[in-house]
Amino acid sequence: MAETATITGTAPAASVNQSLINQLYLPVKRWFLLNFKLDSTYFKKQPDRIWLDQNLYPRLAKIKQGRILFVGCAYYTWESLKHFNKGVDLVTVDIDECNIIWGGKNHLVASILEIDRYVEASSFDIVLLNGIFGHGVDSPMMQIQTFKSLHRILKPGGLLQIGWNHDLTPDPLNFDISKELYYKTDYEGLPERTTFPDSTHVFDFLRAKK
Ligand SMILES: C[S@@+](CC[C@H](N)C(=O)[O-])C[C@H]1O[C@@H](n2cnc3c(N)ncnc32)[C@H](O)[C@@H]1O
Repeated sequence: MAETATITGTAPAASVNQSLINQLYLPVKRWFLLNFKLDSTYFKKQPDRIWLDQNLYPRLAKIKQGRILFVGCAYYTWESLKHFNKGVDLVTVDIDECNIIWGGKNHLVASILEIDRYVEASSFDIVLLNGIFGHGVDSPMMQIQTFKSLHRILKPGGLLQIGWNHDLTPDPLNFDISKELYYKTDYEGLPERTTFPDSTHVFDFLRAKK
């Protein structure tokens, strides 16, 4: 069973403790870290982050409902979660339990390779998979498994947005499985693929085939 930032257990003492952690300890610690310890200025200046902030997130912010999976949480992605409308069922996931603090209210500690064991099949409209291939999900076997697992949890026609670096990983869209399970698409006026002259980042949009 997935571990979530919000406790689902029944033991009253555990619930009270977890509730205190979620409502007091984590927000205070986050505030302290963001204001006194960590600096996301470097990330904000990177072409890929600028593209996300100026192009992708404003489009996603217009979505009023549905289910979105945000994969991989870090201090510099915390602000990104604020773009999403309250009506959206936003689920965050990271394999590292230390990153619960940078996840949303509905956070899973789980590997994306087996996310289909933790959430309902065909339940997500969008999966945002940025900086995961080449940052933990590195081998062809792992990436193929991720494509399979995400296809199971996406609705037919659901959107898979992948951000990856061409100096860290070969083109993941060259896997047969990606062509079998997905088709390339543009998204709300953004092209199928975006690259940058002075960065190794690549952003792709795919949709899940039926
Ligand atoms: C480069 S970081 C941040 C990625 C973030 N989504 C972004 O936009 O930059 C990569 C994150 O992926 C997480 N990660 C690595 N392997 C994973 C896996 N198998 N399942 C889920 N998260 C994973 C790491 O713990 C780390 O927080």
